[in-house]
Amino acid sequence: MKVLVVGSGGRDHAIAWKFAQSKRVKQVYVAHGNAGIAQTAMCIDAREIEQMADFAEKENIDLTFVGPEKPLSAGIVDLFNQRGLPIVGPDQRTSRLESSKCDTKVMLRELGIPIPEFAVFSDPDRARNYVRRIGYPVVVKADGLAAGKGSLVCDGMQDAQQAIHEIMEERVFGDSGDRVDIEQRLYGRELSFFCFTDGNTVAPMVAAQDYKRARDNDEGTNTGGMGAYSPHPWLDDKLVGTIMTRVAEPLIQGIREKYDIVYKGILYLGLMLVEEHGEVTPYVLEINIRLGDPEAQVILPRLKTDLVDVSQAILENRLDSIELKWDPRYRFCLIATSGRTKGKKGWYKGYPGRYKIGVPIHGLDQVDDNCLIFHSGTGFNEAGELVTTGGRVLCIVSSGETLTEARQIAYREMQKVSFEGIYYRSDIGIS
Ligand code: GLY
Repeated sequence: MKVLVVGSGGRDHAIAWKFAQSKRVKQVYVAHGNAGIAQTAMCIDAREIEQMADFAEKENIDLTFVGPEKPLSAGIVDLFNQRGLPIVGPDQRTSRLESSKCDTKVMLRELGIPIPEFAVFSDPDRARNYVRRIGYPVVVKADGLAAGKGSLVCDGMQDAQQAIHEIMEERVFGDSGDRVDIEQRLYGRELSFFCFTDGNTVAPMVAAQDYKRARDNDEGTNTGGMGAYSPHPWLDDKLVGTIMTRVAEPLIQGIREKYDIVYKGILYLGLMLVEEHGEVTPYVLEINIRLGDPEAQVILPRLKTDLVDVSQAILENRLDSIELKWDPRYRFCLIATSGRTKGKKGWYKGYPGRYKIGVPIHGLDQVDDNCLIFHSGTGFNEAGELVTTGGRVLCIVSSGETLTEARQIAYREMQKVSFEGIYYRSDIGIS
């Protein structure tokens, strides 16, 4: 069969790689991919959802799987469905769960799912008065999509005022800052939890630990993610049960019964686990409608079940007939980013700030074949050299019987890779 993967980042490379493992798949196409993905699949230059639908129709694509949130929020699933093209992912209405933090919090409260205290504002003065009045630490979130960077964790009142100013007045996230969701800052253990769902059955995946901050010791600005590993040390069967019964199942059933939303695809819960009265309460910080990046890079290599089988079961409403099988060994992902470099007019701070692109990348051919390399931001220059095209450039995914072993391999292999300004955190898997 022919599969089309939509996306051009590291997660999307991992999805394409996973489909390429399937005996049932003859050809994987990716729209629009990058230089590394082109080694795994055939990249096609389709950037608009209509172009992707045209391609799927012309090529008789049997299955399309969507990686990022943007095409989902733009309605790619609705478009493909209208044209009778099989596609896995939530439709545009369901995608509001990620593309509106404010509306989602209201919905979750109505469904009785644990969430932090919150309030929604479209007026910055009112938002400022609110943070002055409540007197507890907050997280200020842009309502709309912000490439994983729209949640500003505030240490005090000053920080919160600044966050409101940046989001609502400086408009650092554009129209995504029309409204803000201001939440009580919770202290506990943060966990990314993923499920497949066909709208009725919810099947939990293994969990992954993500590292969002740019610098060691969880300092610096939020990024899309700087590294990940799986299995997760906290996630035992009891905790999976708690998350399923208190969050995942009531959410999928609740939105179907109360709002007539049938959620098909990947459910990604951003949770804060808080110890309360001798029990763990999984508070929902955010809902995403896709696999995480870089969580997918460690979760998919552990999935032993064919992703084609899972995808078809989702489309045919029979996810309950699938048993997900997982490799127990650790996977560890270390992301190399475009860091601080000197430009013609001064210094680039580096990702997630401004960074240089077009920088030649060396050493990938030296990396141990037992590791996977997934590309996020790479291309070829006119001389045919592999160069950087993004802030997150590529990652190395290693495996090991223990986290320590997998970690050592990834760091050892990353030393063989070089490009001007290469930066990666040194504490993934430790802190
Ligand atoms: N790793 C966080 C995200 O994908 O949003």
